[in-house]
Amino acid sequence: MTKALEGVKVLDFTHVQSGPTCTQLLAWLGADVIKVERPGEGDATRKQLVDVAGADSLYFTMLNHNKRSITIDTKNKTGKEILERLVKTCDVLVENFAPGALDRMGFSWENIQKLNPRMIMASVKGFGPGKYEDCKVYENVAQCAGGSASTTGFRDGPPLVTGAQIGDSGTGLHLALGIVAALLQRERTGRGQKVLAPMQDGVLNLCRVKLRDQQRLEKGPLREYSQFGDGVPFGNAVPRAGNDSGGGQPGRILRCKGWETDPNAYTYFITQAAAWEHVCDVIGEPGWKTAPGFSKPAERLDKLNLIFDRIEQWTMTKTKFEVMDICNPLDIPVGPILSMKEIAEDEGLRATGTIVEVDHPTRGKYLSVGCPIKMSDSPVEVTRSPLLGEHTYEVLGQVLGYTADEIAAIKTSGATEPAKKMAAE
Ligand code: COA
Repeated sequence: MTKALEGVKVLDFTHVQSGPTCTQLLAWLGADVIKVERPGEGDATRKQLVDVAGADSLYFTMLNHNKRSITIDTKNKTGKEILERLVKTCDVLVENFAPGALDRMGFSWENIQKLNPRMIMASVKGFGPGKYEDCKVYENVAQCAGGSASTTGFRDGPPLVTGAQIGDSGTGLHLALGIVAALLQRERTGRGQKVLAPMQDGVLNLCRVKLRDQQRLEKGPLREYSQFGDGVPFGNAVPRAGNDSGGGQPGRILRCKGWETDPNAYTYFITQAAAWEHVCDVIGEPGWKTAPGFSKPAERLDKLNLIFDRIEQWTMTKTKFEVMDICNPLDIPVGPILSMKEIAEDEGLRATGTIVEVDHPTRGKYLSVGCPIKMSDSPVEVTRSPLLGEHTYEVLGQVLGYTADEIAAIKTSGATEPAKKMAAE
């Protein structure tokens, strides 16, 4: 069976997390992703958060599946020539260097267009054009600058960052969409284009509902926020809303049986209007179905604390999975708080390939997250991440057409091997 992006060659100049998430997705969709790394060093994450001495870290392996790795010193003359040849041959160049780094290497957008007018050049940067465009940015900086941190946490506590890597992996996703769209447009125009996904913009896009609430706040208090029920006045900016639902249906995280010892014995519980009567029956308050002040959604907004306290009295008598089993058939939306341990052991996620076990020559077997996008005509088989420079000479020969003699000369040029190794040989 063919893959969606079969035949697309990606020059992967990415490192750390944001860029690699993007190119890993492209690889899973079938592109030939050639990751360019610095000889002897490689992507810094290979050696970050190491758990198996001498092996590539999980940080690296889990972000670089299904890719080939080649090592090229881009500051070496021969290295630059190889890169030029790669630019001429590939369809897409993806990079997330600090602003200006690619230009300093001699690969400005203007030069790339001269070398290959069909090239799609895709970049992650921290900020878009403007006063912060030169800044280096990491995940949590993006979460803070994109509006996520100011709206996450409890109103009486400090801003919080979230465990979901919305700045890095979220922006990688945005970039991948831009690249696929640019490939489609190139089919019609024959031209490449520049694709930019700034991390601040990506985070803000994911915080869209909070900008919605900012404008609603200008018209009056946000009545679905528990702050409203608590009688605490609103300020002039969207407050942190704890675990309140971000939509129009009130929801909270509630304790379940075993919460005293299990930090994840909780459920998310949504009192969706359509399921209100079932909620009342389940928790043993059938009178609330018709009682004045309870029967209509708008009337309940100032009583949400009372209502959720009562629901919690019920959820505390059940495990989070029993809550799910009872509520789901009644269309009451609930969700167990799953720990990473429970997710790692989840048979359903393994069966769909969302959790995969991968074998690696130096670290052995490890778990990873497989492709979260399922396509009926483009199946994904997750293969291990490449060792540093594992495919350098294979790519030089197969993809770029260098002869054996030329490859032998490149090996001694310092373009593909670290200086120390060269001296030892
Ligand atoms: N051979 C030789 N030099 C290489 C090379 C190679 N194969 N690959 C990279 N380099 C050089 C670059 O040319 C650059 O050199 P220069 O600064 O002398 O021009 C240098 O390595 C460092 O690149 P840089 O991107 O600045 O790395 P950094 O570790 O200083 O910064 C980030 C890391 C992530 C902060 C920065 O890359 C960044 O802000 N990226 C954009 C936003 C982003 O993606 N952030 C999230 C990361 S998950």
